Amino acid sequence: MSKIIIKDAVKKYGDNVVVSGLNVEIGDNELFTLLGPSGCGKTTLLRMIAGFNSIEGGDFYFNEKRINDMAPEKRNIGMVFQNYAIFPHLTVRENVEFGLKNRKYDKALMTEETNKFLKAMQIDAFADRLPEKLSGGQQQRVALARALVIKPDVLLMDEPLSNLDAKLRLEMRRFIRKIQKEVGITTVYVTHDQEEAMAISDKIAVMKDGVIQHLGTPEDIYKRPKNAFVANFIGTSNFVNAKLKAGKVCFSDEYEISIEALKDKKDQDLVVSVRPEEFVIVQNDQVGIRGIIKDTSYLGMNTHYFIELSEDNTVEVIQESADALIPDNTPISLQVKSHKINIFDERGSENLLRCDSFESA
Ligand SMILES: Nc1ncnc2c1ncn2[C@@H]1O[C@H](COP(=O)(O)OP(=O)(O)OP(=O)(O)O)[C@@H](O)[C@H]1O
Ligand SMILES: [Mg+2]
Repeated sequence: MSKIIIKDAVKKYGDNVVVSGLNVEIGDNELFTLLGPSGCGKTTLLRMIAGFNSIEGGDFYFNEKRINDMAPEKRNIGMVFQNYAIFPHLTVRENVEFGLKNRKYDKALMTEETNKFLKAMQIDAFADRLPEKLSGGQQQRVALARALVIKPDVLLMDEPLSNLDAKLRLEMRRFIRKIQKEVGITTVYVTHDQEEAMAISDKIAVMKDGVIQHLGTPEDIYKRPKNAFVANFIGTSNFVNAKLKAGKVCFSDEYEISIEALKDKKDQDLVVSVRPEEFVIVQNDQVGIRGIIKDTSYLGMNTHYFIELSEDNTVEVIQESADALIPDNTPISLQVKSHKINIFDERGSENLLRCDSFESA
C-alpha cells in the first residue's frame, strides 16, 4: 500500500562504492524482484529500504514521505532476511505472534491470524517448538509467516525460499503471491533464481555491479533483453557473431537475413543472441550457419542438440521430437527465427531491436 521511490541512491562501504546513483520506482501493490549475480548489491539495496544500512546519497520515499531518517520500526515493513533471523528464545507460535502483539491485537484475533499463517506455511505441527529444533527450511517458513501475518505496507524478502525443497518452493511462492495480491503489499523480492523471478514477479530489475541493467516485465526481459548480459542471465542464450551490411544481417557461411527494423542502421559488427528454441536445423545443403551435432539429449517432447559451429562456439538447440533424431556427428545447418532473435551492437551493450534504442539513436 505504498509506492517506493528511490532517487540517486549511493551506498559505500568505506571507499568501496557498491551502488552509485541508482533510480527506481516500485509501484503500489507491485511484486518487484531484484535479480542478479552474487555480490551485485541486492541485499545492500534491500537493507537501505528497510533502514538497516546507512545511506551515503540520494532519497528514499514511501509514497510522498521521505524515509531516509525514519527508524526501521516506524516503516511498517515485513522482512524475511537471507539468514532468516527468527527469535531463538521464542517458540514458533510466539515468533509469528510477535508483530501482532506489538500492534496490540485483541487476543482472539491474534490467535486466529497466527493459526491461519502457521497452517499456510505448514508449520502448525511445530507451533510450540523452539527454533533450534527446526530444520533450516522450517525456520525459513517461520520467518515468512512472521513477516506476512502483520500485513505490512512493504514486504522485503531476501532469498526467502532458498532452503526449501523444490515442491515446497513452488507451494510457498504461490502462497506469497496470493497473500501479496490479496492484502496488496508492495513487495521487493530478492532471488538468484531466474525461473522463480519470472514466475512470481510483476516487474524484474536485473542488476550487475550495483547498476540496474534492465527493468521490465518478465516477458519483456525474456523476449527483448536490453543488453547481452541480460540475455545471458535470463534463460539460455547462444551468441553468434554477424555483420550488418546494407540492412542485412550476415552470418557465416553466406547465411543472411533481412530485418525490417534494421534497414536504416549503419553497417557494423553484431552480436546475435539466439535462444535454443529460436534455431531451426536444416539439412540437404540448405543455406544456414554450418555446424556438426556433437551431443544429443532426448527429453520426450523435445530434443536438445549441442552443435559445434566452430572450435570455440558450441550452441544448444531445442527442437520438437516429432521427427526422427539426427545422429551425432551429422553435419547440419542452422537458420534462425528472425522475428524472435535479439541483435546487439558489437559490445553487446545495446539491443538494436528495442524501440527505446531507436528513441536514443
Ligand atoms: N558490511 C559490508 N561491508 C563491506 N562490504 C560489504 C558489506 N556488505 C556487503 N558488502 C559488499 O557489497 C557488495 C554487494 O553485497 P550484497 O550483499 O548487497 O550482494 P548480493 O547481491 O546480495 O549478493 P548475494 O546474492 O551473494 O547475496 C559485495 O561486493 C559485498 O562484498
Ligand atoms: Mg544477498
